[in-house]
Amino acid sequence: MTMLLKLLLGFLCGVAALASDDSDAAQQGPLPLLLVSFDGFRADYLRRFPMPNLKLLYSQGVLVEQLTNVFITKTFPNHYTLVTGLYAESHGIVASNMYDPVSGKHFQVGRDKDPMWWNKARPLWVTALDSGYKTAAMMWPGSDVVIGNRTATHFLAYDASVTFKQRLGNITNWMLGNGKEQGVKFAALYWEEPDRTGHLFGPENTTAMRKALKEVDDDIGLLMSELKRTGLWGRVNVLVTSDHGMAQCSTERLIRLEDCLHPNNYTLVDLSAVTALIPRKDPEAVFALLKKCHAHMTAYLKKAIPDRLHYQNNERIQPIILIADEGWTIVQHGNKLPRLGDHGYDNSLPSMHPFMAAVGPSFRQGYRISDLNSVDIYPLMCHLLSVPPQPNNGSLTQARCLLEAESFGDAPLFVSLVAGIFLVLATVVFLFRGLRKCRPLRSRRFRRLPIDDDDGEEEPLYE
Ligand SMILES: *[C@@H]1O[C@H](CO)[C@@H](O)[C@H](O)[C@H]1NC(C)=O
Ligand SMILES: *[C@@H]1O[C@H](CO)[C@@H](O)[C@H](O)[C@H]1NC(C)=O
Ligand SMILES: *[C@@H]1O[C@H](CO)[C@@H](O)[C@H](O)[C@H]1NC(C)=O
Ligand SMILES: *[C@@H]1O[C@H](CO)[C@@H](O)[C@H](O)[C@H]1NC(C)=O
Ligand SMILES: *[C@@H]1O[C@H](CO)[C@@H](O)[C@H](O)[C@H]1NC(C)=O
Ligand SMILES: [Zn+2]
Repeated sequence: MTMLLKLLLGFLCGVAALASDDSDAAQQGPLPLLLVSFDGFRADYLRRFPMPNLKLLYSQGVLVEQLTNVFITKTFPNHYTLVTGLYAESHGIVASNMYDPVSGKHFQVGRDKDPMWWNKARPLWVTALDSGYKTAAMMWPGSDVVIGNRTATHFLAYDASVTFKQRLGNITNWMLGNGKEQGVKFAALYWEEPDRTGHLFGPENTTAMRKALKEVDDDIGLLMSELKRTGLWGRVNVLVTSDHGMAQCSTERLIRLEDCLHPNNYTLVDLSAVTALIPRKDPEAVFALLKKCHAHMTAYLKKAIPDRLHYQNNERIQPIILIADEGWTIVQHGNKLPRLGDHGYDNSLPSMHPFMAAVGPSFRQGYRISDLNSVDIYPLMCHLLSVPPQPNNGSLTQARCLLEAESFGDAPLFVSLVAGIFLVLATVVFLFRGLRKCRPLRSRRFRRLPIDDDDGEEEPLYE
């Protein structure tokens, strides 16, 4: 009973506070939203390395310790998921290297601007245009592609030589607008670290990762100070996240396809943690060879790919895929390890998970939850922007917990009170359930990978 009274009291106070808020925000519509991705930011980097600026950011907002991303845990599939809320099989960017049997076209990361690859979905920077908003996409995968006949209002194609500061400078200018141009309501900003360093040196190289993450944290510091300097801080919502994690690879964990079958037996489409191939002659026989090829590699016929991976229902997914175990690398032949760190593996592995932090007037303060699905970020962003979401695979149920109590708009106090009392009575039971659901869960242990002291030759791949 005291619990109920407390709830009622708390609720009424909240309603009163909201009703007495000035209605500035309501008149100008939703607050602008800035989405920032630091490629390859593995969730446990947050604990393993000091990140003072990032900690400062989420101490004033919210933290999702682990984001369950989508399979395959690669850059392009997951960046498109963040802005569409769709699994890779549904948005169509299913890998870094793709073959489309319908059109006969090939796709390679960074070298293909053909809209047909992207047109199965609409990113938020396109759909938000329909709500009358200006948008911006800074080097986010797909930024410079004309999707559904449109691009963001402002965009720049990927260019590794443009510094974080320059990318941010453009973003803040676009968010501010000027006399002629209205500021953008949604902006997406991409940065390629710590992915690059993770590939080059491996996530277990503490020296290399500490340096890369110090730079990332400095960039987050710059982000906060620039938003403050330009007066945007506290007037925009900021979401900082990533696409995937990183696993340590080793020359001792190589899987050679040549040991199992002749290269004439298949056409290779993608070679990585997840390998995609098309059998040339006898598919059954080729599959039989791959199935027993290596204890640390699982071969799947397309129709048998586990449902939980949501990786089947697309013609760009090839007849056979091979999934390496965490930290194993599939090569065609030889003893050369292409990268000391890699990703793409099963999305249930904690090492493949990124994190999410958010701050701004719409978010709670000093709140954290242990996990969230990355497909839920899209409906959350649509909610923050009041943009009708496209059909997607996410939901607001869990993400709603991250938000500050929702406003009643500018309804008069009395109406709010009456509505509030009815709401409380009608939803007490539901609330108890809801509170339980929203309670931040205590952190769970990250699985640590064995540290490897190998010095295989690196051949960086920025994806
Ligand atoms: C694309 O946009 C242009 C200019 O707005 C328009 O003329 C053209 O018809 C559009 N094409 C399609 C396929 O919608
Ligand atoms: C915007 O980006 C360009 C590179 O495309 C850079 O030359 C310019 O300095 C940036 N603007 C700001 C304000 O940082
Ligand atoms: C770790 O990275 C540093 C560069 O930051 C490099 O000099 C060193 O050789 C690497 N160590 C190992 C064991 O790979
Ligand atoms: C694999 O290729 C070799 C060499 O071309 C050929 O002799 C063999 O029949 C092929 N096996 C299958 C299962 O396609
Ligand atoms: C994901 O969403 C799309 C669009 O609504 C839908 O077509 C697809 O069936 C969904 N996938 C799953 C596994 O629910
Ligand atoms: Zn990468």
